[in-house]
Amino acid sequence: MNVLGIESSCDECSVAIVRGGRTILSHLIHSQIDDHAAYGGVVPEIASRKHVEWILPLFRAACAEATIDPAGDIDAIAVTTEPGLSGSLLVGLGFAKGLTIATGCPLVAVDHILAHLYAPRLESDLAPPYLGLLVSGGHTILCRVDGWDSMSVLGTTTDDACGEAFDKIAKYFGFGYPGGVAVDRLASNGDPYAYDFPVSRLDSPAQRYDVSYSGLKTAVVAQRERFRREGAEETAENIAASFQRVAIDTVMRRLERAVADTGVRRVAIVGGVAANSYLRRRAGELAVDELHIPSMELCTDNAAMIAGIGYEYAKVGRFVDLDAPVNARVRGYRRVGGAGRRDEPRAERRKDSGAIR
Ligand code: KG4
Ligand code: ZN
Repeated sequence: MNVLGIESSCDECSVAIVRGGRTILSHLIHSQIDDHAAYGGVVPEIASRKHVEWILPLFRAACAEATIDPAGDIDAIAVTTEPGLSGSLLVGLGFAKGLTIATGCPLVAVDHILAHLYAPRLESDLAPPYLGLLVSGGHTILCRVDGWDSMSVLGTTTDDACGEAFDKIAKYFGFGYPGGVAVDRLASNGDPYAYDFPVSRLDSPAQRYDVSYSGLKTAVVAQRERFRREGAEETAENIAASFQRVAIDTVMRRLERAVADTGVRRVAIVGGVAANSYLRRRAGELAVDELHIPSMELCTDNAAMIAGIGYEYAKVGRFVDLDAPVNARVRGYRRVGGAGRRDEPRAERRKDSGAIR
């Protein structure tokens, strides 16, 4: 079964054709980094206009590269419908609906978060149940995945997403855009122990797996001197390396705790921040039986993961009608344990409001 995947939830416009949920026949991504760089963050209006510009040429090129006739060789069309920037999601969904009308192929609605958690399966034999850590610019979610449409949240962030913290620190110091990549690059020439920044401490039973980045951000921006190791030099490289170490350790410690508590020793780390070089090194030290981290291209937003998980839904006939809506906010996933906990991960403000901070 060939599934066409479409991703347009934020600032990557991507189209892919994937066979059997695993074999990528073609995969094209147009990143809008250059269009948003001058503003230091994603501008929703620009994002949706760029999706309008790119989606048709990408679709044509993806069909040509896979030597696929869109009129006869595609079995289902999978498209991201949530969460993300509404205007951007609507471009992808509108295009997908047009294709459905033109080709008669059924339409599959995909949750972007679940698609990230599926991404490693395009390259390895990952299968549920497993623990998933999604770290991106919009989301920080530690969860247990029991099926391609069944995920329970163990922990999330109480403020910024992990990648959002990278982006804000980079913006504050003028390290470059996008922030995560700039910090990672600088950090490779810095001392990760030049500053002993604090790791967030949320130790109440209800927040056993939650993280927070506000304390780290304040320490890096306003209280650096207090945390500088004696003799360490104040350089961009040292700040980046020390921030990166603590920002990543923050989520990795929660993941280690979840592995120990649940006994689930199969782990997937996904999302844009999973491209981070320190995270990838640090993950190698996890005491688990199976570790799945996608290659760089499948960490950040991409349509292959949409087509991949779309195949799983198409296989069981989970299609949607032509009146399917988009949903900007994060869905209210089931939350595991902890009386009085919030029902859903913090909705991603950057994507919802488009605010650049
Ligand atoms: O998954 P993604 O492409 O989009 C969202 O769904 O948010 O993730 C983008 C995020 C950005 O915050 C970016 O700074 C971060 O991933 N990122 C990185 C690295 N590459 C991308 N963060 C740390 N180190 C990296 N190498
Ligand atoms: Zn994403």
